[in-house]
Amino acid sequence: MSNNKKHVLFIGAGRMAQALIKGINKNEFSILVGNNGNEDRLREVKETFEVETTNHWSQEIHKMDIIILAMPPESHDDILAKLSKDISGQLVITVAAGIGPTYLESRLPKGTPVSWVMPNTAAKLCKSMTLYALGQNVNQEQQGWIEALIYDIGEFEKVTEQQIHELTAVTGSAPAFIYRVAEALEKITLESGVNKDQARKLVANMIAGSAEMLKTNAAPAELADEVATPGGSTAAGLEILDTNHLDRLMIDAIEACRQKAMRQE
Ligand SMILES: NC(=O)c1ccc[n+]([C@@H]2O[C@H](COP(=O)([O-])OP(=O)(O)OC[C@H]3O[C@@H](n4cnc5c(N)ncnc54)[C@H](OP(=O)(O)O)[C@@H]3O)[C@@H](O)[C@H]2O)c1
Repeated sequence: MSNNKKHVLFIGAGRMAQALIKGINKNEFSILVGNNGNEDRLREVKETFEVETTNHWSQEIHKMDIIILAMPPESHDDILAKLSKDISGQLVITVAAGIGPTYLESRLPKGTPVSWVMPNTAAKLCKSMTLYALGQNVNQEQQGWIEALIYDIGEFEKVTEQQIHELTAVTGSAPAFIYRVAEALEKITLESGVNKDQARKLVANMIAGSAEMLKTNAAPAELADEVATPGGSTAAGLEILDTNHLDRLMIDAIEACRQKAMRQE
């Protein structure tokens, strides 16, 4: 990345914009934030993150290198139509569910570099598993900007647009499945007489430790075998999960997310 700061405009100042802004290296990027008119929110963002804000983002387009769309999917058509009038080669990134590079390219002037970045809610703790895909006109320098912008919110992986459509159910939605598992485990943990803080500590650290074990690249089945002695107590529990087809349940849940997302796009 060159020493010149790149100018980034956020359109949208909500949860996802703030998670990104918090992590962005302010020595590499100068940040301007606009929204839909909520002045209190802009004031809060300015004070918290020491960035510039604007009530008239459309007048600032010509000064920008990068424009990040951090507003709801349904606002995109309107904003893309407005952007199209003033844009001249800036990189346009969206974080919106369902809005891929093909969608952006079809609504922006020919040749506009675009990208789709899909973080998850853990971005606010800098633990996101973020997917990103590039449009046809993104050069290597711009890809470097994208990775620098998301570097501090967690891990990221470049995939295709189609893969983001399919895998958002895993990286974006499946955390909710893990929280359901956590809820059940906390409930049964509390029945042993520990307090809520203790139950949370036990369950959260058990899940975090299991995630760390997965990161060693050992196969999940191998890790399960490591815990479960044949005929032992863990094996008795696994048998219940296997007999009740936990794997099928997970696949069905992921499929349901995908089908719903497809109907909304
Ligand atoms: N939250 C997540 O974990 C998550 C994860 C992945 C992707 N996303 C995506 O991130 C995007 C934003 O989600 P969020 O959770 O940050 O939403 P949010 O907290 O509700 O914030 C939405 C922001 O968009 C602004 N906005 C809405 N319509 C606008 C318009 N027409 N022009 C300019 N700004 C407009 C709002 O402006 P005001 O401030 O004026 O209200 C607000 O600042 C969504 O597309 C969502 O799919 C979110």
